[in-house]
Amino acid sequence: MTDRITMVKPDDWHLHVRDGEMLRSVMGFTARHFGRAIIMPNLVPPVTTIAHGLAYRSRVLAAVPEGSDFQPLMTCYLTDETDADEVARGFAEGVFTAVKLYPVGATTNSAHGVTDFEKIRPVLARMEKIGMRLLIHGEEAADASVDVFDREAVFIEKRLEPMTRDYPGLRMVLEHLSSKIGVDYVRAKAPQLGGTITPYHMELNRNHMLASGIRPYFYCMPILKREGDRMAVAQAAISGEACFFLGTDSAPHPVAAKLAVCGCAGLFNAPVAIETYAKLFDEAGALDKLEAFAALNGPAHYGLAPNAGTITLERADWIAPEEVAIPGPEQRAIVYRGGETIQWRVVAG
Ligand code: NCD
Ligand code: ZN
Repeated sequence: MTDRITMVKPDDWHLHVRDGEMLRSVMGFTARHFGRAIIMPNLVPPVTTIAHGLAYRSRVLAAVPEGSDFQPLMTCYLTDETDADEVARGFAEGVFTAVKLYPVGATTNSAHGVTDFEKIRPVLARMEKIGMRLLIHGEEAADASVDVFDREAVFIEKRLEPMTRDYPGLRMVLEHLSSKIGVDYVRAKAPQLGGTITPYHMELNRNHMLASGIRPYFYCMPILKREGDRMAVAQAAISGEACFFLGTDSAPHPVAAKLAVCGCAGLFNAPVAIETYAKLFDEAGALDKLEAFAALNGPAHYGLAPNAGTITLERADWIAPEEVAIPGPEQRAIVYRGGETIQWRVVAG
């Protein structure tokens, strides 16, 4: 049995760190183990301009603990009004690594998301030309007749398939894969399309959320699906295939926003993220594929070099904190797997 692994330092290709006290309270969990992270732009108001991106990057960097060389990769929130020149200039100036597409209403803070896919055509055409990545929350949400469990499948058929045809040179990421249909689609469209995979879509199905009491802490978008979907997602991650890579979608919320009459979507897993992936790969007998998934496939899809440093994990039990205190009115954020025994620990890097 392997009890210790050393690999290239991982990156997190899908991360929410919010702003203000929340940002200051959560940033360290990612910065301590990951070399880089795609910082999602769904703030209120969203990050839609170069000026917003620069200002947000400074606040993120100010929240990174001293001595860490963690690098945030900023993203631009796509709206119906996004200007192709602004996006292209942000990319050329190194402010924006990618653009994030949220269909309106699909998830937390998506109210400014895309309502009319015709209107974003000039931006997508420009991105294709300059080699900028498009990150996609792939769920059809505006049409209330679409069942919430089918949103990923309907989006693929109705939106993504035409996009892959119309912009063959546009490299895209279908974020937080949650269904067998999604996994198979990414595989079929690689390398044009890549897909991120969260630890919780690998670990949980909808029974975990609904079958023995309702667990609002497992409520996320895309929503947890059937066991067959979970298995397809987990198998894709541990396959080592180049089109699948690590994106935690760690999404902290104040406890009052999660435990509410209308609770919000998002799971805060940064405090246990790389350790949980290690556990899941270990249980599947696939620890030898963890490096590709966590540290190599993502940079390759983005056209970036892997990190220079390494990280070492050891099989060793520790207990995850149940919550992280947030100074001020937000009070605390509940941690995924909080209070549970975590079987792997980062010992170096
Ligand atoms: C994310 C959030 O809270 O910002 N929520 C979630 O359920 N995953 C947004 C997102 O990635 O959908
Ligand atoms: Zn997300």
